[in-house]
Amino acid sequence: MKFYEVATYKEMSRKAANIISAEIISNPKAVIGLATGSTPIGTYNQLIEWCKKGDLDFAQVTTVNLDEYYGLSGENEQSYRYFMNDHLFDHVNIDKNNTHVPNGLAKDPEAEGERYDAFIKEIGGIDLQLLGIGIDGHIGFNEPDDVFVKETHLVDLDESTIQANSRFFESADEVPKKALTMGMMSIMQAKKILMVVSGENKEQILKEALTGPITPKNPASILQVHPDVTVIFTKQAN
Ligand code: PGA
Repeated sequence: MKFYEVATYKEMSRKAANIISAEIISNPKAVIGLATGSTPIGTYNQLIEWCKKGDLDFAQVTTVNLDEYYGLSGENEQSYRYFMNDHLFDHVNIDKNNTHVPNGLAKDPEAEGERYDAFIKEIGGIDLQLLGIGIDGHIGFNEPDDVFVKETHLVDLDESTIQANSRFFESADEVPKKALTMGMMSIMQAKKILMVVSGENKEQILKEALTGPITPKNPASILQVHPDVTVIFTKQAN
């Protein structure tokens, strides 16, 4: 595992964008796993800047996102599909048909999970997966649990996640209580993993994840057994 601590959020974002760019430049047809939340926004802004300058080309890139709120359509401004369009896809030369987010409106979430995992497998798996970490150690929306769940599945969000994400909503009551999340199998089968973490409030859970016991109580701890993980941390909150 490579661990970098950098001084600023801007540096974290630039370094992460560099790693993603290097992947796309070396493999223009790369499958990139993407994440939502406030942490990757600076990374996306940097990628947009380089794409606008002509230094980066998304024309053949495929993306798969980690998760989606259950019950929200992609047109809903709080949905992660909307977030991705707004923060990245609308501003780069990616073909939207090649961008994938779990369907938050799927009537049968189990079937949607199976479809999503099968799709990821069919396209050859993920070359580089971008991750954040929740204050409870979640990756994607894999919340602390008694087991690591392999498949893409429906989860009940933790109270701490609902509170943390309420900043994007009018009130905590409006935060969906369930989400579809990529499971540990597709994440752990990604060839490379890139985790971005910003803010002192994440320092302790990150330290436990990277150096403590490997346990589903701290879902990010599973990354200790992945062969190619890069973590970029800054104490500076964004
Ligand atoms: P954040 O979320 O970037 O908004 O802090 C990270 C996460 O929950 O994975």
